[in-house]
Amino acid sequence: ARSPTGCPVSHRAAAFDPFEDAYQQDPPEYVRWAREEEPVFFSPKLGYWVVTRYDDIKAVFRDNLTFSPSIALEKITPTSEEANAVLASYNYAMNRTLVNEDEPAHMARRRVLMEPFTPEALKHHEPMVRELARAYVDRFIDDGKADLVDQMLWEVPLTVALHFLGVPEEDMDMLRQYSIAHTVNTWGRPRPEEQLKVAHAVGNFWQLAGKILDKMRQDPSGPGWMKYGIRKQAEYPEVVTDSYLHSMMMAGIVAAHETTANATANALKLLLQHPTAWREICEDPSLIPNAVEECLRHNGSVPAWRRLATKDVQIGGIDIPAGSKLLIVMASANHDQRHFDDADMLDIRRANSSDHLTFGYGAHQCMGKNLARMEMQIFLEELTRRLPHMRLCEQSFTYVPNTSFRGPEHLLVEWDPAQNPERANP
Ligand code: HEM
Repeated sequence: ARSPTGCPVSHRAAAFDPFEDAYQQDPPEYVRWAREEEPVFFSPKLGYWVVTRYDDIKAVFRDNLTFSPSIALEKITPTSEEANAVLASYNYAMNRTLVNEDEPAHMARRRVLMEPFTPEALKHHEPMVRELARAYVDRFIDDGKADLVDQMLWEVPLTVALHFLGVPEEDMDMLRQYSIAHTVNTWGRPRPEEQLKVAHAVGNFWQLAGKILDKMRQDPSGPGWMKYGIRKQAEYPEVVTDSYLHSMMMAGIVAAHETTANATANALKLLLQHPTAWREICEDPSLIPNAVEECLRHNGSVPAWRRLATKDVQIGGIDIPAGSKLLIVMASANHDQRHFDDADMLDIRRANSSDHLTFGYGAHQCMGKNLARMEMQIFLEELTRRLPHMRLCEQSFTYVPNTSFRGPEHLLVEWDPAQNPERANP
């Protein structure tokens, strides 16, 4: 096989398949060979150029004119005519939001919509996050075991996300199904028989987003980022368009909750697999903020993202023709020895943990990063304080096969409820 530039494709590049379980289990390990020997390669199975080193990925993020984000929410696997017809029957029209918008439209929109993400504005959400975390822990603390994903880490970030957006709490189970369908539709490789089911769920999600938006328009007063957006539309109709609002309503629910739920599950799994680190944060909670950052580096929830080359360009000395699609593997950048000493080691005191690229970098860097950090810190504070004796059960971890949203579907933990600190110290 040859790349689009006529170069021979190595056997490992030919075998690269991010829908294989090995990628989801450990993305940086899966592309270690590339990071070390072939840092930019063409993947014939995916039809993308894959970028694996820290400096190259940062340079791609930094130049969002040469490397357009326009394909960030495009289906990575083309689906059947039949599935496309199903989506069309729901008038599905996911379009530009922020994350996939080009300049100059993007920066104008980002500026207009930034205020609810300022540290001042985010402070208002903190008591609610803590209250929710406590209430969910209350429900299982005497059980001696829990599936932290099913019993806490999925629903709490979803509830917070809906509050943040100003969306009334709709059927949470349904939104969970819809979100997973959206992930599979956008970043997965659904089998032909799965494609129809996914298309129906995504179509329904799109319609629900439209209904929520219509209802909000009747009274856009009060808190919530989407309501804020509706109010801004009156002032800046060309910046905050109808298409933006509808697309963002759907994409926003996923961006704000699935990323954070997965990141927390990944962090807890990692910390519990490193008992010394876990004990240290139990004994000294002031270590938690940097531990969160280190977990986002070591085991983040968005392992890869996409860009489109808008002109002929080189990355790491490799010629990339205009029109090429790029998969930039941030999880690999985050384990790059060239940037992080002992990159594979979990070091909760690492000085440059926050250099990780899990939130992206540059003009499009995650707007919700401080909300996500706050949630993760609070979850860790509550769990280390109330369940310091918690440990992972024997289990194998499963993931939804896709390039970009990653977290264990279940996280089983156990402890001896007789040892709960609050029993000793009510
Ligand atoms: C963009 C990751 C949580 C809202 C992004 C991007 C990534 C990302 C990789 C694209 C960055 C780029 O292209 O440079 C994450 C992770 C999260 C998280 C790992 C949790 C740990 C959130 C939350 C919200 C949010 C909680 C909302 C409340 C957004 C928005 C953008 C974005 C609006 C688009 C920004 C732009 O294009 O200007 N996020 N995110 N994210 N994220 Fe997040």
